[in-house]
Amino acid sequence: MSSDPAILRSIATAVGTPYWFYDAAVIRQRIANIRELTNAEGLQARFAMKACPATRILQEMAANNIWIDAVSGNEVLRALRAGHAKGQEPPVVCYTADVFRDNALQVVLENGILPNIGSPGMIRDLAEAGYKGRISIRVNPGFGHGHVNACDTGGPSSKHGIWFKDLDKTVALATKHGMKISMLHAHIGSGPQFQELLDNLDKLAGLYAELIPMFPDIEAVSLGGGIPHNYRVPTATQPLDKLRELFIRARQRVSAAASRPLRLEIEPGRYYVAPACTLVTSVTDVKQTTANEKGDGATFAMVDAGFVDLVRPAMYGSWHGISVVGKPEDVPTEPIVVAGPLCESGDVFTRDETELLQPRPLPRPEVGDLLAIRDAGAYGYAMSSNYNSIGRAPQVWVEPDGSRTLISRRETLEDILKAETEQAI
Ligand code: LLP
Repeated sequence: MSSDPAILRSIATAVGTPYWFYDAAVIRQRIANIRELTNAEGLQARFAMKACPATRILQEMAANNIWIDAVSGNEVLRALRAGHAKGQEPPVVCYTADVFRDNALQVVLENGILPNIGSPGMIRDLAEAGYKGRISIRVNPGFGHGHVNACDTGGPSSKHGIWFKDLDKTVALATKHGMKISMLHAHIGSGPQFQELLDNLDKLAGLYAELIPMFPDIEAVSLGGGIPHNYRVPTATQPLDKLRELFIRARQRVSAAASRPLRLEIEPGRYYVAPACTLVTSVTDVKQTTANEKGDGATFAMVDAGFVDLVRPAMYGSWHGISVVGKPEDVPTEPIVVAGPLCESGDVFTRDETELLQPRPLPRPEVGDLLAIRDAGAYGYAMSSNYNSIGRAPQVWVEPDGSRTLISRRETLEDILKAETEQAI
């Protein structure tokens, strides 16, 4: 449905461009895939809501018994408002971070959320607040992977988690303050190659099995997120059956180490939502530069979306499929640079990791055409910003029967100025 030009144009008429188009059927299919993947005794899936925290999506997760991994006090509150249960029986919402910022500590304490500790100082913070309950420990296992270095979260260069060789000190600190370590957690990276994920998760299960004798109160282990999405071939199927076998084996292994059945959790983010959303933008102009001693010339399709909307290409050199809405596949193409409205030369959707332009073979667009920037559901709207005082673009939810709901409107100047104040302090 997401490729139907008439629907995309009619939504553009209704809400303007750019806008985010969520295809409910795709999200539901991905949720069904994860449920299938974790449909075995003792396995539990969470959603790393940082990937796409829209209430509508959190509600879909709640309806499907997908628990939540939250990274801030406000993410926890968003999940609770969307219908996820508070408390630790079971710990439906887990707070995973390396820092308690703003309201996070208070929200965790008031709602009985399981804190997943990424830095030993957080145990001190909890102790100072009088907390004596369960905690989870996020381990940096010394190895990891990611689609770029910034998304590799295991190893000596990663700020995340507690270094695996320092766990004895952490256990001592928690015990001293009357806390029980009920879960071991690691998220070793986001968006690796599939085989790399399998190898590293297997290694992680082995490390947990070695560590578990240090944790007499353990109830669960988490293998984190990181199921990749194939952005270049979004319809490619991933060998999820191999992952399922790995989870079942890993659970047996850690349960044997604990001499009792443990729960094994996973918490993907990207996998659920990446293919479910398209950023739809209008072509406002097509212009040209010509080659000189500084470099090649280029044809620029100027569009009204920029890295304030989808930052992944500008931030990581990430590749997103782009098509000219309504243009047949077989028309001649030419190399086109797709660029946005912002005040930076890097506001380009077609560039590589080294910040160089990477023109895309596209049919030459015309002013007024719509471009569809695909697979924008994960870390898309979630990472959008108000840079240049451009409000965030609206999100539209589309059901398989074609019914559409505006799930967030376009931000206005009033939204942008809402927090400004003149207060003596
Ligand atoms: N669990 C934890 C503790 C995480 O930090 C993350 C992602 C996940 C789970 C989910 O990982 P996923 O399944 O989505 O790969 N902005 C980057 C990705 C940053 C990932 C941050 N943490 C991007 O656009 O690729």
